[in-house]
This record gives sequence, structure tokens and C-alpha cells, in this order.
Amino acid sequence: MSRAQPDTDVDLSDLDGFWTRPIEERHAVFNALRDQPGLPFFAEREINRAIPAGPGYYALTRLDDIAEASRRPKLFTSGQGATNIADLPKEFLEFYGSMINMDDPRHSRLRRIVSRGFTPRRLDALTENVGRVASTIVDDIIDAGECEAVRSISARLPLTIVCDMMGIPESQHDFVFDRTNVILGATDPEYVPEGTDIFTALLQAGGDLTNLVRELAALRAENPTDDLISALINAEIDGESLTPDELASFFILLVVAGNETTRTAISWGITALTRYPEQRERWLADLDKVTPTAVEEIVRWASPVMFMRRTVAEATALGGQELSAGDKVLLFYWAGNRDPKYFLEPEKFDVLRSPNAHIGFGGPGPHFCLGAHLARREISVMFRELLTRIPDIHATAEPVRLKSSFINGIKHLPVAFTPGGAR
Ligand code: HEM
Repeated sequence: MSRAQPDTDVDLSDLDGFWTRPIEERHAVFNALRDQPGLPFFAEREINRAIPAGPGYYALTRLDDIAEASRRPKLFTSGQGATNIADLPKEFLEFYGSMINMDDPRHSRLRRIVSRGFTPRRLDALTENVGRVASTIVDDIIDAGECEAVRSISARLPLTIVCDMMGIPESQHDFVFDRTNVILGATDPEYVPEGTDIFTALLQAGGDLTNLVRELAALRAENPTDDLISALINAEIDGESLTPDELASFFILLVVAGNETTRTAISWGITALTRYPEQRERWLADLDKVTPTAVEEIVRWASPVMFMRRTVAEATALGGQELSAGDKVLLFYWAGNRDPKYFLEPEKFDVLRSPNAHIGFGGPGPHFCLGAHLARREISVMFRELLTRIPDIHATAEPVRLKSSFINGIKHLPVAFTPGGAR
């Protein structure tokens, strides 16, 4: 089949015209794209003069197609160009050339080394920390009866956990928070004001985080502690260890991937409980039983990472579409997670949804989210804490959404609850 034009007049490359529209419209568009034969093709737009418009991309919206591309990494590569829409300019490689943008054998080597940060022992130790942080978060807001949930709840937990994991002192947490906002919120004027050069802002944020990790690495080389930086700079697996550049870009990947995503999931979770009071009742009726399925449903429903890109290595076919070497395909997890072939009433938030084989953490394959277990624990612990101590927490206004096609983010979410909490 030759290149298919989308059957809708919507342009997925149009941030203002499409991605800021109400989510219900997004549903309708992706449903139409999913139903049309072949794969719809979209032109790219110029991001700035240093990142000119590329050749365009195909959109994968059916879960089967996304899973197939994920399962065949030799054919659908991550290392050719990048996993975002535009190819990574060479100036970015030092900061952003992490394993998410690599193929084997480089990818598996790095993943093997950094996986030592995610062993069951480390995760158990982190879980205790997650519990402590979640409980402090609620201590700090409980008397007020209201707060801005993104800053005070959803962003605070993953930020503290990732920073603690890497051994970043608390005095630097806000510094990290601001830089990760720039990196993932670069298309939103709240984080990178109109008129600012995105290219420069991204390089600056990457450089700032790199300097921070280099300073910490120098300290840990002298005095190793129990944190992940110490483990990584002393990493010697098969005689290999991380180079300073690899450490820096892994650090950036971790703080970026670990913060915005989990924050987004928690914020959408609070929004969902506000919109679906009967689901809150169901969850409250049996916290132990419902929490595992509710957490999966939050990740499916929120789909914090909306897509990743792959680049075709050699001529092949997918979803009834012929593809050539060099073609870009975007794996729209958000759309796959609403594929009616796999999810009954996909728009609905259902804390007991089963089966729920969502692809919110990526499709099956070598890049499946390294932090999925950690993220699940963070979301579980945070909601158990909220639903036990302030069970009537609810949004008092619609979420203010991030302007982005990549992260389904929420920037602000005012919430209220009974001051002092459940009695
Ligand atoms: C709800 C929260 C999260 C979501 C929705 C999410 C989503 C994803 C997705 C979709 C990918 C796949 C990338 C691809 O196939 O190209 C991914 C990869 C990754 N995630 Fe997560 N993530 C979350 C939390 C975390 C956390 C908490 C961490 C670490 C602290 C983390 C670290 C990573 C890393 C390092 C990768 C790259 C893996 C690789 O390339 O081998 N993520 N994540």
C-alpha cells in the first residue's frame, strides 16, 4: 500500500491545533486513524533553525502494530536518529544520547550495568523510603484542606525518590525539578517562554544536570556511599564500567524518565477519582485487593508517555503498510491503550479492569521501562496514603494540561479535602 493520507483533517504535528484540544477530541481522532487501512502519514514541522523538519512519520495506533514494532528492535530501531520525532542533533549527544536511543549491543551493555540500581534488594530499600516520603507529603498538606496537587503531591514523591536514589542532596531537588521541566516541557511556554530558543534551553538544562552529576561522581569516587552513582562509577561487569559521558546521560534519562511520568500518572489518578466517584468507592471498599488493578488502570488511562519513535532498518510491512529503510514510525501508546480490540469501553476509568494488558510502560521488547516496578510502587503507596488519610481528596478545577505531544502532562491541579483528614 502506498503512503496513506489520514482520513481526518487533523495534523498530529500541530501542537496548538491538535494536542491542546479536549481529550475527547483526541479519542475521536485516534479511533478514526486506528480504523483506516494501512498507516496514516504525517509531515513534520521545523522545531527551530538548528532542527529542521524531517521527512515525516507514520502513526501506529493499533496495539498489535505497536507491540510488533517493539518486539522487533533490529527492524524497528531506537538508535538510528532518536526515539523522539526529530533526529538528535550532534550537540545533544553528550547529554541526551542515553540507552533509550541505542540498539544492541550498546543498549544491552548499558542496561546490564544500570540494572544494578533496580535489583529487588534496592527496590525493597526504596519502598521503605517511598512510604516515608508519601506520609510526609500528606502530613504537610493535611491541615490546610486544599493544595496544588502537582507541586505538593504528584511531583514531590518521584522527585524525592529519584534524587535519593542517585544521592542528590535535598538542597538540589528544586534545581533538578526545574531542569527536568524544561527538558520534557520544552514545547510549553510556561517552562520555555516564547522567544526563548528551545535548542539553547535544552542544552543549558542538559549541561546543568551533567555538571551536577559530575560533581557528585567526583565526591563518590573519593567516598563511595550506598547510592546509585557510587554503584555505577564502581560498576565493573565483564570488565566494563560507565564512562563519564555515559553516567551523565544515564542520570539525565533517569531523572527525566522517573519524574514527569510518575508525576503525570498520579495527577491523572486524582483527576480520575474526581470524575468517577463510583470508582473511588470501589477502591475504598477494599484497598488491598483493588490497589494493584487500580494502579495498572491509572497507567493505562493516563498513558503518561504518549509515544516513542522507531526507525525502519530495512524494507518491511506493518499494519498493511509497506515501509522503507529510514522511515520513521511513532508508537502511540496512548492510542494503543484505547484500542477497543483489547479494552472494553476504553475511555472509561475502571479500577477493577481485567484483563488490562496495557502498553503504558512501552511494548514488549528490550526497551520496556526499566523503572516500571518502582513506578508501580510509588503510585500504589501514594494512593494508599491518600485514600487512607484524605479519602475525599478531589480536584476543584479541570487539570491545566502540559502543551506537548510527548508527555500527557498536567501542570496544575487544585484539590481539596476535609482539613485534618479522615476521622
Ligand atoms: C508511570 C511512570 C512511567 C511510565 C509511564 C514510563 C514509561 C516508559 C516507556 C513508555 C518507556 C519505553 C521507551 C521505549 O520503548 O523506547 C520507558 C523506558 C524507560 N523508563 Fe520509564 N516510565 C515510567 C517510570 C519510570 C521510572 C520511575 C524510571 C526510573 C526511575 C523510569 C526509567 C526508564 C528508563 C531508564 C527507560 C529506558 C529503558 C531502555 O531504553 O532500556 N521510568 N518508560
